[in-house]
Amino acid sequence: FFADERHRDMEGVRLLVTAGATREAVDPVRFFTNHSTGKMGYAIAEAAAKRGAQVTLVSGKTNLTPPADVEFVPVVSAEDMYQAVIARYDKMDVIVKSAAVADYRPKSIHSQKMKKQPGDLVIELERTRDILAELGKRKTHQFLVGFAAETENVEENARGKLERKNADMIVANNVAQSGAGFGTDTNIVTIYTKDGEKRDLPQMSKAEIADRLLDAVLEACKKRRE
Ligand code: CTP
Ligand code: CA
Repeated sequence: FFADERHRDMEGVRLLVTAGATREAVDPVRFFTNHSTGKMGYAIAEAAAKRGAQVTLVSGKTNLTPPADVEFVPVVSAEDMYQAVIARYDKMDVIVKSAAVADYRPKSIHSQKMKKQPGDLVIELERTRDILAELGKRKTHQFLVGFAAETENVEENARGKLERKNADMIVANNVAQSGAGFGTDTNIVTIYTKDGEKRDLPQMSKAEIADRLLDAVLEACKKRRE
């Protein structure tokens, strides 16, 4: 593919992408988070916008500047992200869930800064809502793309997530590999689709992966219409 062959081939597509890490507050000065920097999600938003899609970027806190021509929706916690995504779900054609959403959050948030005490501290955590799984349950016409961050058993875990969350595509990366995963400018991913197809992509920039991923989405949507 040359860049110009893809030129404006997403005109009329409404795409929502989530990016970055969520933050789960412990008290007014502390939170739990993860290593996601948002680079992959921002690259997808930028690539889709360049191809003419109407893009909404729902993002946790990152150090990145939102790309031009996207609707930017900043969020903090997993619950914020859930609310932002669900509120816009009906109007979307494609959802790409590249955010690294917290699986757990503190059961209660202390209203004052916690003071240190002698001895150890235990913080009780509760599960957050699984946004992608909820989207899978409520799916009508949308094409749902999830990510899978794995450190082992990549294929088995990715296919499990595809099934369990009723997604149409899962982009799996082994975050333990060098040149892949959190904070890097490149990634090494495998794309799994619902019809059992598997596409291994070599190491490439997150910008190029974004375009390849969008190519795969357009192809799968076209197949679905035939
Ligand atoms: N995801 C989500 N909401 C959550 C957790 C995950 O929407 N509360 C989404 C992520 O955005 C990603 C996909 O689910 O697209 C897979 O996330 P991942 O962390 O790899 O899988 P989990 O289902 O959370 O399972 P685990 O962390 O145990 O591997
Ligand atoms: Ca998780």
